[in-house]
Amino acid sequence: MKQTDCIERVAVLGLGTMGHGIAQTFALAGCEVACFDASAAMRDSLIERVGGNLAAFVAAHAIDSESVEPTLARLRLVTTEAEAVAGAQFVTEAVFEDLAMKQTLFARLEECSGPDTILASNSSSFPISQSGILLKRPERALVTHWFNPPHLTPVVEVVPGPGTSEGVVETTHQLLRRIGKLPIRLRRELPGFLVNRVQVAIQREVWDLVDQKVATPEEIDLAIRGTIGFRLAALGPLEIHDFAGLDIQLATYRNLAPEIRSNPVVPAALERLVSAGKLGVKTGQGFFEYPPERLANRKARRDSLLLRLWKLLYQAEPAGEPE
Ligand SMILES: NC(=O)c1ccc[n+]([C@@H]2O[C@H](COP(=O)([O-])OP(=O)(O)OC[C@H]3O[C@@H](n4cnc5c(N)ncnc54)[C@H](O)[C@@H]3O)[C@@H](O)[C@H]2O)c1
Repeated sequence: MKQTDCIERVAVLGLGTMGHGIAQTFALAGCEVACFDASAAMRDSLIERVGGNLAAFVAAHAIDSESVEPTLARLRLVTTEAEAVAGAQFVTEAVFEDLAMKQTLFARLEECSGPDTILASNSSSFPISQSGILLKRPERALVTHWFNPPHLTPVVEVVPGPGTSEGVVETTHQLLRRIGKLPIRLRRELPGFLVNRVQVAIQREVWDLVDQKVATPEEIDLAIRGTIGFRLAALGPLEIHDFAGLDIQLATYRNLAPEIRSNPVVPAALERLVSAGKLGVKTGQGFFEYPPERLANRKARRDSLLLRLWKLLYQAEPAGEPE
């Protein structure tokens, strides 16, 4: 498949938690971004949400204040999917995590996009061979899995399917590098890709510790942040093992693996919160409560800490770690 050397026109479908930050990242890097969401409220609030994120970038000296207006001007809000995709060289969806919805979306996108347009899915778990199953030309599709907050988290997982062309993978890789991301290509696709499999393993144990009332939720968050989280910002889990000593790791694994939660059933407390409409910050309550002022404070603190970490760890070494 012939690919455009330099992708300048992008479309983002779904402008929620992920889509708005993905659109921002492309726009900040100079791409023209057509933005569509099925919800008018999400479209109407896009510029304000991205503007808020960019203000935090300016406050952290990550960008100049002069780049805010041109970045916002590169976000083009449209009211139909077809309008978003028309002329786009790279399209990414960030709609709900619903397999049937993604499958029919990709089938429609194939109809209204150009023959060389790359189609990407930001699914957290569905490989492109599932979400793109209705595509007539699967060679143009792949997963690009961003992490929340997408405008701050450095890595994007690139997960080609068995039918994705090498040219599409290479062009996507280059595009992600150009917009300041650190793409990690998986050698084969599998559900949940790489990072979310590890994340779910952590979540499973954390929810179980909450259930067992081993500590308060606040203490659990603090304990993990101040140990595993603190170290993981500097070293990967395998190198952490090397520093600790593999003999110690072996003994710990042998002793603890049979003790930790391995039940595949979704934790009851998680089911209960979602059934009650407590979805987290987007509904004002999840595990913790987020009245508007607290939410603004927590988000500002999160973004300011992550921006400082990003500057410290990734700005100087965008390609990753020196040996
Ligand atoms: N939230 C995360 O931490 C995270 C991280 C990585 C990947 N993801 C994945 O990204 C995708 C989006 O997740 P999110 O957290 O941003 O969800 P979200 O609920 O915050 O946003 C989804 C948006 O998609 C819109 N939408 C739904 N159907 C649509 C359609 N057919 N066309 C256009 N817009 C449509 C909704 O109106 C909503 O604004 C999901 O596949 C999710 O699994 C989420």
